[in-house]
Amino acid sequence: MDKKRLIFATTNQGKMDEIRMIMADTGLELMSLKDLNINVDIEENGTTFEENAIIKAKAICELTGEMVLADDSGLEVDYMDKAPGVYSARYLGEDTPYSIKNQTIIDNLKDAKGDERSARFVCVIAAAFPDGRVITARETIEGVIAEEERGVHGFGYDPILFVPEFGMTTGEMLPEQKNEISHRGKALRLMKEKLAYENINC
Ligand code: IMP
Repeated sequence: MDKKRLIFATTNQGKMDEIRMIMADTGLELMSLKDLNINVDIEENGTTFEENAIIKAKAICELTGEMVLADDSGLEVDYMDKAPGVYSARYLGEDTPYSIKNQTIIDNLKDAKGDERSARFVCVIAAAFPDGRVITARETIEGVIAEEERGVHGFGYDPILFVPEFGMTTGEMLPEQKNEISHRGKALRLMKEKLAYENINC
């Protein structure tokens, strides 16, 4: 029997490698937009991670007539009313170096002590089906904003999210270590369970 195909709405190779690894035992054939030569610009104009993930998954589902997964993620800082949130990539401008974005967040929190510094990476994965059904899975890595940037691994806001459980920022974690506890990895594993529940992977 042919494998069922599942499209992941990304052109990012790193994300595809991670999702292929996590979904390896499902029997689903994972395809990226790159694999399918799909080149579309989808406007992510939602105000929540759920809305943006659903916008992307539905747009590609409507285009292809196939089942599609999409993700949206970012950093929520409680002291900043959960900013930058869905605007994480665009915060202070898309092309502004993360050293500046990170230092600005640290400066914003100069008067915040202890629990007031709580923050998290959030990832929502949405699945859209040709029959109109949509399901979502949300996961986080919980931490606090560090007093200064620490670590050379990862990308984006990794040097400033200190995870007390591990005594280091996600920027200090080796990639394999971060993948195991990452918001994206956990959301993907949760989505895998939800797809199994919907009898998708058979
Ligand atoms: P995306 O939705 O995966 O493209 O992520 C949007 C933005 O959120 C990224 O451009 C980063 O600014 C931030 N972000 C998401 N995940 C992480 C992470 O694991 N580490 C650091 N920054 C992240």
